[in-house]
Amino acid sequence: MSFPDVMEKLVSLSKRRGFVFQSSEIYGGLGSVWDYGPLGIELKRNLQERWWHAMVRSRDDIEGLDSAILMHPRVWEASGHVGGFVDPLVDCKFCQGRFRADKLQDAHCPRKPSKKPGEHSECQLTEPRQFNLMFKTHMGPVEDTSAAIYLRPETAQGSYVNFLNVQQASRQKVPFGIAQIGKAFRNEITPGNFIFRTREFEQMELQFFVEPGTDMEWFETWKAARMAWHRGLGLDEARLQFHEHGEGELAHYARAAFDIEFDFGGSLGSQEIEGIHNRGDFDLGKHQEFSGKRLEYVDQANNKRYLPFVIETACGPNRTLLALLVNAYREEPVAGEEEGRVVMGFHPALAPVKAGVFPLTKKDGQPEMAHAVADDLRKRFPVFYDEAGAIGRRYRRQDEAGTPFCITIDPESTKNNDVTIRFRDDMGQIRVGASQAAGVIARYLATDISVADSRRVPAP
Ligand code: GAP
Repeated sequence: MSFPDVMEKLVSLSKRRGFVFQSSEIYGGLGSVWDYGPLGIELKRNLQERWWHAMVRSRDDIEGLDSAILMHPRVWEASGHVGGFVDPLVDCKFCQGRFRADKLQDAHCPRKPSKKPGEHSECQLTEPRQFNLMFKTHMGPVEDTSAAIYLRPETAQGSYVNFLNVQQASRQKVPFGIAQIGKAFRNEITPGNFIFRTREFEQMELQFFVEPGTDMEWFETWKAARMAWHRGLGLDEARLQFHEHGEGELAHYARAAFDIEFDFGGSLGSQEIEGIHNRGDFDLGKHQEFSGKRLEYVDQANNKRYLPFVIETACGPNRTLLALLVNAYREEPVAGEEEGRVVMGFHPALAPVKAGVFPLTKKDGQPEMAHAVADDLRKRFPVFYDEAGAIGRRYRRQDEAGTPFCITIDPESTKNNDVTIRFRDDMGQIRVGASQAAGVIARYLATDISVADSRRVPAP
């Protein structure tokens, strides 16, 4: 099945509604760097909190960590990033375009008509040269080589160098894991596709330490658990798939690897949103070698000591958020209306704003009652209050924001102390007592209904 390309529509909806803005836009923007607006940050936090809950808070065998972005430069020598975190880069001397030599088939020459780099008769591609993707900066006031330092390109290394700190402080026994959410930076040669590939991004990474010999069993367990987590976000099953890394594709540290891919539609198609690796003892072994410090785990009960193997699950919240946007976007005709509507059908638990509250008019005590209802709801979840403009237009704006419930206060409401709840997905409405509204919505959110099911929300 091929899915439509909705990327351009999403870029403009994201700006219009406040999901994602281009960085430094008033200065003409900074290439492939993005800021998350009021709705985007709520959506990203909901995603990250869901991950943190699944990986850390709901388990007793995983500990959280927040290691620093700046690390000792030797970390990146040990990890192989200084020597090997490179992409082959080619320049075009004619158009000044820059491309990844190993991805020329997917690249576009900036000149018209659209062709691949090298296909125009004027193209002058240089020989490939290796380009390190780490951002280099300097620590302290003197810019000499001894002060050179890197912005981390992954959170994983912070978990490896803290392996014994976390294990001993938390008194965990292998198997156990260290989870982190944090920023990472890569000087990508060809960033793009909105927030899909950027130079500043975030990662949600788990490093799970296991006894050698049990690693492939744990690898399979985590592979299944992570796919189930992505399905639980409401991502369409038909868009999700595993991609196994073959011999030539495996990273230098990996014994086995699968990506979880999401089909973004259009020419981007199926792409990695998470990588799952069996990293063996590569990382702890290298850090032990380079630091000169023993990083073995002592299994006192069985009188053994060994370097644990690592199963890593590495997910990108920005890419997963893009998957949520693509997955949620739909255009629908509306009976009796010329213009249809655009709906962001997020899973209600992930939706940035849970309820819109609208007085039908600005008189007869309706705004006062609506404010009271909104204040009551706000104790439990994010709410948007709006009293301006036609009610239909207010509903449409919330449909585009992905708000699953809208509460309207009309002339009957002030008499009977009740409200209507309008459901985003089927536009059906029910009437409930004003004091019951928060409870009714909370019940829907707690049922963890999928996006598809929420289109047929049952009566409470
Ligand atoms: N520690 C392993 C590691 O970093 P990775 O496959 O390079 O593995 C993990 O990155 C995830 O981080 C990817 O699946 C992707 O979701 C996200 N990611 C990587 N590079 C990215 C970029 N330039 N922009 C946005 N997300 C990125």
